[in-house]
Amino acid sequence: MNQIEVNSYEQLSEQAAKIVESQLQKKKNSVLGLATGSTPVGMYKQLIEKYEKGDISFADVTSFNLDEYAALERTHPQSYFQFMKKHLFDQVDMKPGQIHIPNGTAESLVQECSRYEEDLAVHGPIDLQVLGLGINGHIGFNEPGTSFQSRTHVVDLAESTREANARFFERKEDVPSQAVTMGIESIMKSRKIILLAYGEMKRTAIDRLFYGEVSEEFPASILKEHPDVTVIYG
Ligand code: F6R
Repeated sequence: MNQIEVNSYEQLSEQAAKIVESQLQKKKNSVLGLATGSTPVGMYKQLIEKYEKGDISFADVTSFNLDEYAALERTHPQSYFQFMKKHLFDQVDMKPGQIHIPNGTAESLVQECSRYEEDLAVHGPIDLQVLGLGINGHIGFNEPGTSFQSRTHVVDLAESTREANARFFERKEDVPSQAVTMGIESIMKSRKIILLAYGEMKRTAIDRLFYGEVSEEFPASILKEHPDVTVIYG
């Protein structure tokens, strides 16, 4: 695992955006795996700036988001669909038909998971996957105890995750209790992965990632077995 330690959130965002930029310069039609959450927001901002300057284009990019809340309409301001529109898609030249985000309101979520895996198989492998890190080591919404062999699946969100995400909702009870997430195996198939973690709250998780054992009790630990992972942290 490559490690890049940074001194500020700005630097973290810059480093991450640079890696995405060079990926897009190397391969215009890259398949990007994207994350939501607060950590990658600065990176998306920088990518928009690079797009506005004409340094990169998303016209040929295909994207797959890691996850989406269950039972939240795509129009809901806290859906990951809206998050991505606001923080990236609406501000660059991404083609709507090339954007993939699990549909958390599909009639059958189980079928939706299979459909998502099929789409990943058709368009993939993901060239560059961006990940955030949960304080309990989750990646995507793969909570501790998730099988390393998991594919896209429906999850019950851990209480700590619901609490961490409550800041985005009016009331904690409004945070959905389930989500659809790419599985660990789906993530590990990516050619290259960058994991971003910033702030005191993430310190213990970063230490456990660097120095702890590989265990399903700490999902991010599997990344140590991937040949091309860069952790950008501070
Ligand atoms: C989001 C996701 C989550 C977040 C993680 C960290 O798509 O998959 O795993 O990356 O919960 O969230 P933040 O960045 O808000 O600390």
